Amino acid sequence: MKWWWRCLGTALHHAALEQARNRLALVLVVGFIPLWLTLAYRVLPTEPVRFFLRAASRPVNLEANTVTQVGGGLHAIALIVGFMLFLATSRSAEFDYRLVLAGYPRVCLLLARTGVLLLAAALSAGYATAWMCVFHQPERLDVMAGALLVGALTYGGVGILLAALLRSELAGMFVVIMVSLVDLSLQSPILNPAADSPTLKWLPAYGAMQSAVSAIDLNLTPWCHLLLGLCWSAGLTAAGLVAFAVRTGHHTSTVKGLLRPRAVRQRLRWAALHLLHPVRARVYRQAGIRDAAVITGYEICRRLIRRSGPVDAALTQLLPARLRPLFWAIYGYGRTIDDLADNQQHDRQERLTRVSQFSEQLESDLRQGHSSDPLRAAFVHAVWTWDLPSDGLGATNAIYRLDAEGKNTIATWDDWHAYWHTLSFPFGVTRLMTLLTAPGLTFTPSDAQALRAWTNAFNLLDALRDLREDAAQNVAKLPATVLDEYAVTTEDLARGLPGGRYAAMIHAMTAQTRQWLKETAAAGTQHPPMATALRTLVDLHMLEVNRIEQRPESLLQGRSKPSVIRFQYTLLRGRLRVARAWRRHAQTAASPPASSHLPPPADGARNTPGTQPLLPPLPHASGAQPPQLPAHRLPQHVAVIMDGNGRWATRRNQPRSAGHEAGQSALRDVVYGALEIGLPYLSLYALSTENWTRPAAEIDTILRLIQEGTDTETEEILRRDVRLRWSGTPDGLPPDLVHSLLRTVHFTRNRTGLTLNLCINYGGRSEITQAARELARQAASGAIDPDTITSRHLASHLHQPALPDVDLLIRTGGEQRFSNFLPWQSTYAELVFLDTLWPDTDRTHLWDAIDSYTRRERRFGAIPTPTTPTSQILIVSE
Ligand code: IPE
Ligand code: IPE
Ligand code: MG
Repeated sequence: MKWWWRCLGTALHHAALEQARNRLALVLVVGFIPLWLTLAYRVLPTEPVRFFLRAASRPVNLEANTVTQVGGGLHAIALIVGFMLFLATSRSAEFDYRLVLAGYPRVCLLLARTGVLLLAAALSAGYATAWMCVFHQPERLDVMAGALLVGALTYGGVGILLAALLRSELAGMFVVIMVSLVDLSLQSPILNPAADSPTLKWLPAYGAMQSAVSAIDLNLTPWCHLLLGLCWSAGLTAAGLVAFAVRTGHHTSTVKGLLRPRAVRQRLRWAALHLLHPVRARVYRQAGIRDAAVITGYEICRRLIRRSGPVDAALTQLLPARLRPLFWAIYGYGRTIDDLADNQQHDRQERLTRVSQFSEQLESDLRQGHSSDPLRAAFVHAVWTWDLPSDGLGATNAIYRLDAEGKNTIATWDDWHAYWHTLSFPFGVTRLMTLLTAPGLTFTPSDAQALRAWTNAFNLLDALRDLREDAAQNVAKLPATVLDEYAVTTEDLARGLPGGRYAAMIHAMTAQTRQWLKETAAAGTQHPPMATALRTLVDLHMLEVNRIEQRPESLLQGRSKPSVIRFQYTLLRGRLRVARAWRRHAQTAASPPASSHLPPPADGARNTPGTQPLLPPLPHASGAQPPQLPAHRLPQHVAVIMDGNGRWATRRNQPRSAGHEAGQSALRDVVYGALEIGLPYLSLYALSTENWTRPAAEIDTILRLIQEGTDTETEEILRRDVRLRWSGTPDGLPPDLVHSLLRTVHFTRNRTGLTLNLCINYGGRSEITQAARELARQAASGAIDPDTITSRHLASHLHQPALPDVDLLIRTGGEQRFSNFLPWQSTYAELVFLDTLWPDTDRTHLWDAIDSYTRRERRFGAIPTPTTPTSQILIVSE
């Protein structure tokens, strides 16, 4: 409860501050009200006018200038308070929304908004009444003040309501002016001789105007009219607050009860979407999203992006329509969990609890495939629809947990890269890249390089934009070395005190951003639609960079946005170009492909198997010979988790990449050892789907080594009788690597020696999942009866269905776990864990492990029967 009051106090404080910041409204209240009253009093004739006043139920004679003054005064405060509340509500909408997402009680925000409305209305009504008294003492001061208060409250309510309905400040102001002009001009007995018409009773300012005019010279209390005015103001304020609640809510909405049943509401929303936003409805259709409940969630995410600023919104618009919902959902998730992690209303423990709860709920929703919360439902839908790697999500959630605890220290540029890379790549960008590929439209290394340079620029600009907000939480999303170099502290930034050192630091950061943007533009991208989108983004970022360079302090004032017209013009041009690039590609792709899907072997004539003799395996450096192994007990399939490269390098004070390089020699030696003993199948774990969370530089090294190691031209083991197979997914791998892997697989397909199954970008769960998906597809199409499905059906959809189960699983490096390696195939594998680090491993370790394997008893669930041949037991197991 104490926390609740504290929240209310903070909300009130912020709302009042927001009002006080509206200098134009203050000037209008302080200057315009007296000016208007003075002019009306001095300029207009004093002669009496006779009209029928409904509040008195009789004709009255009142001086024209006094009546005009009162009507004008009422109009002025209605306008000013309406405008004030509109502006404050619409400007704080995003902040309020983020607070609600972060668990802030919405009712506090509603009460704060009401409190501020009452305060603004009371102060301006009191002030206007006081000025009226300067010219003419009303007969009933209390009624006059009450009437002005009621008028101000009514239009304050209009302002709050409009803020929920309209986006542009100009539109809001215009509507407030027009509504009040029509309403109050018609009510004025001076301007409208028919002001006593009964129709006018239905207009919002009727009660207020009747009461105010009666207060000039009549000693009566028009209770009915005051009450009517109060009803209008209460009704409009309530409508405004409900709209505000709807806008700020996505879960546990206070208005939810009012709008039940849920299904009806969703259907109405769906119909409204088609009617009011046919373009967006088409986006959903193109993405194949039809469930109204899920669309509600996607819409929440989309609105989050729109509120987060023009750049993020532009990014979405440059994507093909079918992928936009995916981007919305990823963004919605990131934004929500980020807000939970950053919410300074809570202490560290509370933040951590909330982030953990959110990620656990999300992970459980992901497992179930649906969620009761619309935002999470959209996210789950996106993960399932676009097959996002939910494992990558774990790494991202872990970063947010550290953020919540304030433990994410970004000391150096390396940390900075690792931080942003983990937040954006494993989960989102990598998959998005693969989704942007199409037949004839793949990503080359230069595309990947451009994308990486651009994400760096994007993230640095993001960090700069949030500089002050982050600093208020004693955080800076810049490397500490940069802040130290310029002797800038987060306290300075939080206080918004720019100085020479600050300007120099911002200048260095914008120079760095420029550099990355230049690299993006110069990378020579080969994916035309993406190249066009990146060019547009570079132009858009340049606009912002220029603005920041001209006015570094604008960052601390939250005004670093470039001119709207130039921004929108650049974006529009870019969108047209990107659309044209996709269209052009579609036309080219529609024509028949020039070559077959599988790339032909390179230099086929020289390297065709058979034309060049296959070499015997190289002997071990020490001359070691294979041990005598009982042929009938030899394993068929050995799988190796080649672990320990990093530690090997670290122990030698070398970069981790040196460990991976050294691991290559171990790999070759083990392959020779396998060839020497005639092992039929060897699976090697080279890169897991989880390894993408490692720093980009390390991944680059691993990918390079894989590329070199699978090149038939240069790789020595491929000149032996080795048939290459690949288990894993192409998602996220550089297309040229995928190309060269497929080529080598094809090139070595007829060899009969060792089948070397390289597990590259492999994840056991995703392998099983995609097999299950394929079965489900067949069942849905009627090709297979679900009741007849056996484990063999599933196994036939694994990456390498022809491979036998793993007999022996070896892991080097001292760890004793599977790390998502061949879970389906290894259910009955014998395990050997070696302390030796992979680079120190050679064929003798393989032989030793196999030797120990030959002495083990494999039971497959049966009772020990030493005489039972393995083949019989295998039948029992099936
Ligand atoms: C395994 O070695 C190789 C790959 C993941 C490609 P590590 O790099 O995991 O080495 P350690 O476990 O950190 O020592
Ligand atoms: C397993 O090693 C993956 C490969 C050897 C390619 P990791 O080092 O990635 O496994 P964990 O993270 O220690 O479980
Ligand atoms: Mg490891």
